[in-house]
Amino acid sequence: MIFDLEMAKPREIYNLLIGLVAPRPIALITTMEENGALNAAPFSAYNYLCTDPPIVGIGVANRPADQPVPKDTARNIGRSGEFVINVVTEDIAQQMNICATDFPAGISELEMANLEAAPSAVVKVPRIASAHAALECREHTTLEIGRSRIILGRVVSIYVDDQYVDPGPYIRAEELHAIGRMNGLGSYVRTRDSFLTIPRIPYEQWEKRRGEDPQER
Ligand SMILES: Cc1cc2nc3c(=O)[nH]c(=O)nc-3n(C[C@H](O)[C@H](O)[C@H](O)COP(=O)(O)O)c2cc1C
Repeated sequence: MIFDLEMAKPREIYNLLIGLVAPRPIALITTMEENGALNAAPFSAYNYLCTDPPIVGIGVANRPADQPVPKDTARNIGRSGEFVINVVTEDIAQQMNICATDFPAGISELEMANLEAAPSAVVKVPRIASAHAALECREHTTLEIGRSRIILGRVVSIYVDDQYVDPGPYIRAEELHAIGRMNGLGSYVRTRDSFLTIPRIPYEQWEKRRGEDPQER
């Protein structure tokens, strides 16, 4: 089946892309409201884009309305220039989902989700205390494209619970139990007990293997 995106409706494009660019990591983003209240919302149009400098990207759609309005996360980042990405793991999955509820203004998602804040190391925006890892970010650039924003953030500090850090440092990803988002139908994937190890092949080893394989002679 071929889908011509020139002809497709925005909802159809959304359904196709989020089902195919998957699994995706989930950033539970905390930002500060103008009045100092803490806002939290999940975003899976998210990844790291480079490490030198350390830049992450997030896609934030406007809320659909006659006059499209930015989501609170985008508005808060635009004003304060700071945000924290809390890594979503199995144990906070339900709370993450509560944070995606469109509560009326003045109701705190954190309170509804029973999540506590903890101070960040560098930025003013707190992280979520029960998240095992968090990336403190400063806005680098925001691109407004159509009815969406692509926010690039520079990571200025990283928090990880000690038990998930090996010397190197490496992250004990097998034990962190991060989850991924699969589509718009509420499907997620666990990473528990599902790791594959596929070591990279140095060219010399590749050549040696070819030499040893009789079919290659
Ligand atoms: C797992 C998950 C991932 C989401 N990813 C995105 C996303 O990448 N971009 C987006 O605009 N909305 C995304 N949403 C919807 C927002 O979380 C939702 O609109 C939220 O209410 C925004 O809150 P805010 O107005 O406080 O920023 C996602 C929702 C869920 C449950």
